[in-house]
Amino acid sequence: MSVQVPKPDHCIDLGVGQPDPALLPTALFSDLAVGWQDLAYGEHAGDRGFRQHLAHWLSGEYQTPVEPQQLFVTTGSSGGLDMICSRLARPGDVVLVEEPSYFLALMQLVEHGLKPVAVPMDRDGLEPAALEQAIRQHRPAFIYSIPTYHNPTGITQSRARREALVALARQYDCPLVADEVYQCLYFAEPPPPPLACFDPQAPVLSIGSFSKILAPGLRLGWLHGSGEVLGRLLGSALLKSGGGLAPVTSALVNPLIEQGALQSYIAGLRQTFRARRDCLHDSLSAALGGQLELNRPDGGYFLWAHLRDGRDIRAHEPRCRALGVAVKAGPLFSVRGGFRSSLRLCFAWYDEAQLRAGAERLARALDGGY
Ligand SMILES: Cc1ncc(COP(=O)(O)O)c(C=O)c1O
Repeated sequence: MSVQVPKPDHCIDLGVGQPDPALLPTALFSDLAVGWQDLAYGEHAGDRGFRQHLAHWLSGEYQTPVEPQQLFVTTGSSGGLDMICSRLARPGDVVLVEEPSYFLALMQLVEHGLKPVAVPMDRDGLEPAALEQAIRQHRPAFIYSIPTYHNPTGITQSRARREALVALARQYDCPLVADEVYQCLYFAEPPPPPLACFDPQAPVLSIGSFSKILAPGLRLGWLHGSGEVLGRLLGSALLKSGGGLAPVTSALVNPLIEQGALQSYIAGLRQTFRARRDCLHDSLSAALGGQLELNRPDGGYFLWAHLRDGRDIRAHEPRCRALGVAVKAGPLFSVRGGFRSSLRLCFAWYDEAQLRAGAERLARALDGGY
């Protein structure tokens, strides 16, 4: 199974969810330097100056005030989730997840001895009535949700849905962990603000990351907290021993935020990925016509497609391999082995010529039957 890896030579792997290496902004980093204070142990929540610039940028981006003391610097979204698993849960605890959900987050939960329990989604995201029932039944350690340009479905929760979910988190005092790594990658209108912006009293942690909007190799992200829940992370022995996370990388990214270089770079990414989304969507529609039901998400990285005749996508994998194309099969994203006719396709990793070639190969692989 391909996960976070370099590009393969002989296969157009539409399954990999990474930014295109050709788009990584090496020039932005060429003149940057760090000072002695960045090389010392840092403040537990992360460098104060960096959090101030981050808060200022996010306040504009979300059109909602974000304060530096609501932010905690992490080693990317995965690093943030790992810390949440360590600090908010104990082995054996249940975590409520969307069905389907990001497969590597599910793996992280399992690696911590936690039990992911699926809650259904509708067209508007996680279903509040089903979530409430699951909270009452399982008393989970926390809820894990991807509210914006969901991985893999591309669904974005409406404002009303977000309010309902945050209200449940507050009512049951159950931490709501929102993985919002695609929040800034909108292709037309911005989405509603992250879940941590809705109720200052509710236990919500919104996870942000620079992986999809600047460079995954930075391993840099943040948690944005409401309620008291951020404080539970700050007592970590990891921080007591090692100080705040990622002082050097946050020192490198700090001037890019302050000078607006990050914001300009993201504006370019939105245009590039929007064109790539249309390219992959339209190439697949042209090549596979009525065979494939396809969404056109308003942002993010992925198309989510379904074989209309209900065939199992995994049965096509040998033929896909032979023709030099790969996708992510639906069951990977399900704790119940569901979504057998579904596939996730990433439009961020390849340029338009390669996306067209990938779509043609996939059409040949699927047309050929079993
Ligand atoms: C929903 C989601 N969360 C987290 C990640 C990984 O983020 P990071 O590189 O910041 O750990 C990804 C990457 O595919 C993702 O899709």
